[in-house]
Amino acid sequence: MKPAFKDLIQVCREDASRWIRPGEVRDASAVTPSLFLRLLVYHLSLRATVWLRVGWFLKARGVRGAATFVQHRLLRNFGLEISPGATIGGGLYIAHPVGCTISAERIGRNATIIGSVTIGYNKSTRWRAVIGNDVFIGTGARVLGQIVVGDNVKIAANAVVLDDVAAGCTVAGMPARVVRKPDHPA
Ligand SMILES: CC(C)(COP(=O)(O)OP(=O)(O)OC[C@H]1O[C@@H](n2cnc3c(N)ncnc32)[C@H](O)[C@@H]1OP(=O)(O)O)[C@@H](O)C(=O)NCCC(=O)NCCS
Repeated sequence: MKPAFKDLIQVCREDASRWIRPGEVRDASAVTPSLFLRLLVYHLSLRATVWLRVGWFLKARGVRGAATFVQHRLLRNFGLEISPGATIGGGLYIAHPVGCTISAERIGRNATIIGSVTIGYNKSTRWRAVIGNDVFIGTGARVLGQIVVGDNVKIAANAVVLDDVAAGCTVAGMPARVVRKPDHPA
């Protein structure tokens, strides 16, 4: 189903809500139009996500060339490589877009991506990771291949994740290993 304009506004509000206190998950209803504008003025990185959402909206509405235009703009202006066609839930927070290459099969709600992160293929060029909800990806981390990263996972800075990660775990190292399991496994 094609997204309506109100869907674009909603997802932008959800993304902007992550910048009220940078990185925190807040209720998107707190983002009034004037707050949204202020957040856009103060946080250049938020502008990258707004462009991404505009590209997604235009592509989904069948505007030819829009996705390519936005993809090039994101790379040129923000150093961020990502396709506007990507399926990414609301509340996306990319702290430092420069040097991030994000090519996931799907990313859930409230993803936190710090900076210089790569999500992409490992051996096959076709298959990429599925990332759950509320996942934190620290600076310099690599998430490679057709793996599943569960909800509420934390990926430490500079980790290289090559295998599935169960929900709630923290992984670190190269290759990444579980360093913390959830207190109360689901
Ligand atoms: C993963 C992270 C979020 C911490 O999560 P946590 O659940 O609080 O984990 P802890 O700090 O208790 O660390 C758990 C274990 O993992 C190890 N660890 C944590 N981060 C690590 C890393 N990046 N690489 C290797 N090991 C790491 C710790 O030394 C600890 O090991 P120990 O149990 O043997 O002492 C944090 O370490 C991290 O990487 N944050 C990224 C911050 C970032 O990107 N900053 C850039 C800002 S511009």
